[in-house]
Amino acid sequence: MKVAYIQMKPKLLEVHKNLSRAEKFIQEAAEKGAKLIVLPELFDTGYNFKSRDEVDSVAMQIPDGETTEFLVEQAREHEVFIVAGTAEKDEKGKLYNSAVVVGPIGWGYMGKYRKIHLFYREKLFFEPGNLGFHVFNIGIAKVGVMICFDWFFPEAMRTLALKGAHIIAHPSNLVMPYAPRAMPIRALENRVYTVTANRVGEERGLRFIGKSTIASPKAEVLAVGSEDREEVAVVEANLQLARNKKINELNDIFKDRRPEYYAL
Ligand code: ACM
Repeated sequence: MKVAYIQMKPKLLEVHKNLSRAEKFIQEAAEKGAKLIVLPELFDTGYNFKSRDEVDSVAMQIPDGETTEFLVEQAREHEVFIVAGTAEKDEKGKLYNSAVVVGPIGWGYMGKYRKIHLFYREKLFFEPGNLGFHVFNIGIAKVGVMICFDWFFPEAMRTLALKGAHIIAHPSNLVMPYAPRAMPIRALENRVYTVTANRVGEERGLRFIGKSTIASPKAEVLAVGSEDREEVAVVEANLQLARNKKINELNDIFKDRRPEYYAL
């Protein structure tokens, strides 16, 4: 199964421009054979908001909003699954840094994840996620979703892997330099594929690091993006490798866990 990241440069508060830019890259990824396509965190709105009002002006309901409708349409047209980060406003007006999961005809809108570990000034605008970590069954594979800074908490990916994820879709807006080095190890620890779709560019003096990364259950870096260009990468994921938690005939990294000795 082929998986893809889209590394792009969203324009702050310019939702329509961002959707049409994403459309071009989704088409490119689909033409290269990707079945699962991951877009960055907040791909439609940009990231470095000044105020809660600014977020409020671009956030939408999920699934009853234009961004989710756009993603559903893209997934239908190209017969792909898409995981994409977006700003969500719930029916009471609360804001979440969320990700939407959609699939082709017969799947449509599949669900959402609300970022659990908010980074820095996100705490001023968004509510912390309250839906838990969820694994989406796309038939051929199980896909766990987490957003950017969630990676800093190994429990996030561990929870998704223990819930059966073979692939971790990781929409991101990374600003610290560590994740491209850490993600292959997270993939190794959990024997999963990871697809980190990061963004590039600068917003109000905040620079994003690019270097979107696809890592294998053996900690191989299968694709890595540049630091400053928009790019699409498509690679083959061998799901058999992600299903096998044995690293030799005597060690199964899930069965060998000793949770009775771990701090909660
Ligand atoms: C981040 O969580 N966007 C750094």
